[in-house]
Amino acid sequence: MERRKKKRWEDETITGVGRREARTSFYGDSARHVSLNGDWKFLYLEAPEFSPAGFEEPGSGAGWDTIDVPSVWQMRGYDHMHYTDVLYLFPVNPPYVPSKNPTGIYKRSFVLDDAWFAGDTILKFHGVDSAYDIWVNGVHAGYSKVSRLPAEFDVTSLVKPGENDVTVRVYKWSDGTYLEDQDMWWFSGIYRDVELINEPKNAVLDCRVTAVLDTACECGRAAIDLTVKGVGSGTWSLLDGERLMAEGDFTSSGDQKEIGITAEAGTVRPWTAETPYLYRIRIRFENHEITVRTGFRTIEIKDGNFTVNGTAILLNGVNHHDYSPTEGRAVTYEQMKADVILMKQHNINALRCSHYPAADCLYDLCDEYGLYVIDEADLECHGFEWVENYTWISDDPAWETAYVDRAVRMVRRDFNHPSILMWSLGNESAFGCNFVKSAEAVRTVDPSRLVHYEGDFEAEAADVYSTMYTWLDKLEEIGRGEKGNQKPHVMCEYGHSMGNGAGCLKAYQDLFRKYKRLQGGFIWEWYDHGFLTKDEEGHEYYRYGGSYGDFPNNGNFCIDGLLMPDRTPSPSLTEYRQVIAPVEIRKKTGSGREILLKNWYDFKDLSHLCVKWWISCDETVQEEGVIEDLNAGPGEGCRLEIPYRPFMPESNTDYYLNVSVCLKQDVPYAGKGHEVSRGQFLLKEHLETAVLHEAGGRFVTEDDGILFKVKGKSSEVVFHKIYGRLERWTVDGKPYVTAGPEVTVYRATIDNDMYKKDDWMNKYFIQLPDEQMEYFRTEEHENHVDVTIGTYFGCLNQSWGFLCDYHYTVYGDGAVTCRLEGKQIQRGKAEPGFLPRIGIRLKASKDLQKAAWYGLGFQENYADSREAAFMGVYRSDVDGMSTNYVYPQENGHREEVSWYSLGDGERSLLVTADRPLGLNIHNYTEESLEEAKYPWQIKEAEDVIIHMDYLHSGLGSNSCGQEQEEAYKVKRQDFALSFTMRAVDAAEDVAQSKIKYLD
Ligand code: GAL
Ligand code: MG
Repeated sequence: MERRKKKRWEDETITGVGRREARTSFYGDSARHVSLNGDWKFLYLEAPEFSPAGFEEPGSGAGWDTIDVPSVWQMRGYDHMHYTDVLYLFPVNPPYVPSKNPTGIYKRSFVLDDAWFAGDTILKFHGVDSAYDIWVNGVHAGYSKVSRLPAEFDVTSLVKPGENDVTVRVYKWSDGTYLEDQDMWWFSGIYRDVELINEPKNAVLDCRVTAVLDTACECGRAAIDLTVKGVGSGTWSLLDGERLMAEGDFTSSGDQKEIGITAEAGTVRPWTAETPYLYRIRIRFENHEITVRTGFRTIEIKDGNFTVNGTAILLNGVNHHDYSPTEGRAVTYEQMKADVILMKQHNINALRCSHYPAADCLYDLCDEYGLYVIDEADLECHGFEWVENYTWISDDPAWETAYVDRAVRMVRRDFNHPSILMWSLGNESAFGCNFVKSAEAVRTVDPSRLVHYEGDFEAEAADVYSTMYTWLDKLEEIGRGEKGNQKPHVMCEYGHSMGNGAGCLKAYQDLFRKYKRLQGGFIWEWYDHGFLTKDEEGHEYYRYGGSYGDFPNNGNFCIDGLLMPDRTPSPSLTEYRQVIAPVEIRKKTGSGREILLKNWYDFKDLSHLCVKWWISCDETVQEEGVIEDLNAGPGEGCRLEIPYRPFMPESNTDYYLNVSVCLKQDVPYAGKGHEVSRGQFLLKEHLETAVLHEAGGRFVTEDDGILFKVKGKSSEVVFHKIYGRLERWTVDGKPYVTAGPEVTVYRATIDNDMYKKDDWMNKYFIQLPDEQMEYFRTEEHENHVDVTIGTYFGCLNQSWGFLCDYHYTVYGDGAVTCRLEGKQIQRGKAEPGFLPRIGIRLKASKDLQKAAWYGLGFQENYADSREAAFMGVYRSDVDGMSTNYVYPQENGHREEVSWYSLGDGERSLLVTADRPLGLNIHNYTEESLEEAKYPWQIKEAEDVIIHMDYLHSGLGSNSCGQEQEEAYKVKRQDFALSFTMRAVDAAEDVAQSKIKYLD
């Protein structure tokens, strides 16, 4: 059957028309660069064929819209917003794309003065999605594709002094789209810088530097490969700041010439992410001068590991996408700089450009601040997996040029960045001959770095064995060398940070540190990709897949970062920072004042750090000090005596030794005193005392057959005899508890519970419990009343549940003690593998908005995510205890809570527990949290909702990867909770919390 003729943007064999050979970006350039960013005329069309006659001619464009460059047009109201993870938005019919192909015609003018014409005119686009034709003064000047790479066109013969016109026609869909199926929003347009370069007639066109160290890692050598155009002579110099280290000259006699130079640098400071020391290479050829920065370092595979300067390193990385909550994929230098600084502040030492090359300046920042980089080609054809022909184009030689082009152009552009460790051939595109060819081509251009590609499952072509989301047990097998090939291993993605989580990061780090072959990994991912929206009612929130009526979509699967869209670190970023901290602080039980510091840096000793320590109890610091001299080389440990003075503990008070390892001096990304790591140890100094419960005055009881009331001098506790529960508790006429404890096993599902949710809620109905009264007994004593309530707890149509005994003791002074024991019971077989939690929920009066707790904090913490939290007394208003996830879900939990208070500023409800428990305090119910799709939809409850958990399951990372580890799954089991509630003066909560009563 006859097939249609390929359009230019449907031809996989064309990688460009009139486009110059890719080359390195220079750090400095004496040639004039004129930015063409700013307002352009813009015409949006449903297909390129609708272009008006003469659109490319100067002077056309009357009546068109205006758009700012750089930007993506979907964020400017054209076309529509659409998010899919894997699906192509059209039939899989490569290389053809829909006839209805959203198109944007951009047009602007620029003025060139006479002086300009001493040189040539290069038009450079840093990034246009997805393919585009350009015209200068009405003449077709070229065509290019690959959305995340630059393209340059020599338009010297097309420009003239005075006003000139440039027209760019951008196609949303092209054959390139088949290779740009990354998990992200579909965006189009000129979204990176556009500039004109006034290149001298005799010029340095390219300068590729390979700077390595000798085997002793002392002396450096830089191989400088130049491409120059024109005839003339030049000089080169290698500089350390302004200090000249080496220099030389060269001549060129041809049109375009390759010149090889070797610069012996002598003794140098090696580049590593820990010591990002940069040198400059200055090339002058006739009147053209350029500079590139370089760092001396050697990357090799040695003894089964990838090494930097001979040392096997551990990557503590993060995956980075271009993202802005208001600009889509158009990001600024300032934003990237803030991101890199934030990464460094959080101990991150590596970044993967998932899944395409970033703008030049990101690599400059990584060179400067020190981050190891995996640079990844703009290549993913994930949608082919879902048609069950994953290798369709990856193994089709017709597509070889396209594959190789994407990898090689990246390598040529980013060649000079010392931060880049590995070239990644792409992501999620199966394996096939085109990857073999890409790997070969990359090695030909740059043999000095490693090749990465996760889709090369057996690491046939790649230098490293890369996997994603590998579960802990499998990872351990890889670590032991029982799985896969023998190449060094890296996790290019793990720790899926969707919503609340990822948990179990510590477990991963422990394996990375334990097994030589495992060299770390990259958290998925840096940002939540939500877009800032303000609706008519004034709600400000972030939208995700489906929020724009886009179908099909992957919902909030793009809300999976360590950072909220507005760059607020989520609790998991703080957790990660501590998990990967380069200094680990340990203390053996019984070791007295001695602590041990373990240095996890690969290159640095600890001399740039000091130890701040303090002894804390409750909200006070009892003693503090600083230890300045830390001596431990990379991988070594050192012992320190913390010289705190002996002291007499106050009764019922816990004392902690807190240790914070801090920077001694300012560094480019953080100030002196910035904390690098922390540790906390409970001291053995402890004095336990208990008193008898005060008589507490007289009380009377009332029983009307439904309600049983215990009235003290100023308090009233009401029990419901039919429902078998504490109804309310009032002191001095002020309600404290507005609904008494009831058992619950449910939490508002977190994203990492997504594969459990359906069973939990539609099969085991854990959100639909029923607590039935078994018996109700009272017994009156001289100064207290015992109320014992038996209940049966179960869920809709379930045979499993708990037999519960609540033993309440009500004192005349109003204090109430509750001892709850639950006994598990199962009379069938079906039941969930584990439960989100086992605990109780109660409600308190809404005016009690000031919370305090003694437990882990400040930030929320969970069983498998609590490395960054310290024990202490923390205060917050109730709203401040919640974490406002873009997609609402369980949040704000605190572990190890021994007491908490909830007050109105004057009086507080104080709850002291016999055994530490898990705590949540919110102004909303978990049901409302579950229902809400955006934060503004969470309904404010009429009471304060309190959860006290016997156990609360961990977070895991199961939205993509590892489930909660067994130890952090709450299995159905017997449980017990025991606590006392009192009304106290708000300022007295700490003091009152120490009063322990004898039974
Ligand atoms: C990986 C993929 C990423 C992203 C992630 C899930 O499979 O490489 O691009 O889709 O899963 O968020
Ligand atoms: Mg994908």
